[in-house]
Amino acid sequence: MNLDPSVGESGRLADAASPSGLGAPAVRHRLIALLLVFGSTLAGCERQPDATKVPGRWYTTAEVGEGARLFAEHCAACHGAKAEGSGGDWRQTLPDGSYPPPPLNGSAHAWHHTLSVLRRSVAYGGIPLGGKMPPFGDNLSAEQIDAVIAYFQSQWDDKIYSAWERRGGVDVER
Ligand code: HEC
Repeated sequence: MNLDPSVGESGRLADAASPSGLGAPAVRHRLIALLLVFGSTLAGCERQPDATKVPGRWYTTAEVGEGARLFAEHCAACHGAKAEGSGGDWRQTLPDGSYPPPPLNGSAHAWHHTLSVLRRSVAYGGIPLGGKMPPFGDNLSAEQIDAVIAYFQSQWDDKIYSAWERRGGVDVER
């Protein structure tokens, strides 16, 4: 937008050609009104993404919805339909020395891990660390991994969620 004072020049030219006899100040007023409308539209756009955020959380309701679908497809067989775990004690090793799939619903220790660590756990799995969790980095995009994390975090109550935030929470650009 041209904020140059010479804009007034064109205003005066328009005025001279106009039979209605609108003065230059009127043109300037209309320009200012236009600027105000334009400015507030921009400010509205900036606020837009936050409007869809789940209050107090980093993710949107759309991410939770997408995550629920992906979780059911890729994770629920091991971690339970609502991320409640596979039953039994997740701290108790299995006969082969590995651990069962833990709950991700806030009742185990997934909340000890910041977002970047959770992203890595899902992308690389636990096999490189001697565990059983398969890697998903080739099957799921970065956005889809964030969505499944959003889904299981949506099972966390506010107390667990703020404990997670105190331990680092969202430690990456979002
Ligand atoms: C084949 C079973 C299996 C599937 C499928 C699976 N996991 Fe796991 N997951 C595990 C096991 C077992 C562990 C414990 C660590 C290990 O053995 O690798 C684990 C650990 C994790 C952890 C670390 C939890 C913690 O408290 O440190 C996260 C996060 C996780 N899984 C998320 C997911 C997500 C999200 C999906 C789906 C995209 C998924 N898992 C699919 C078996 C699975």
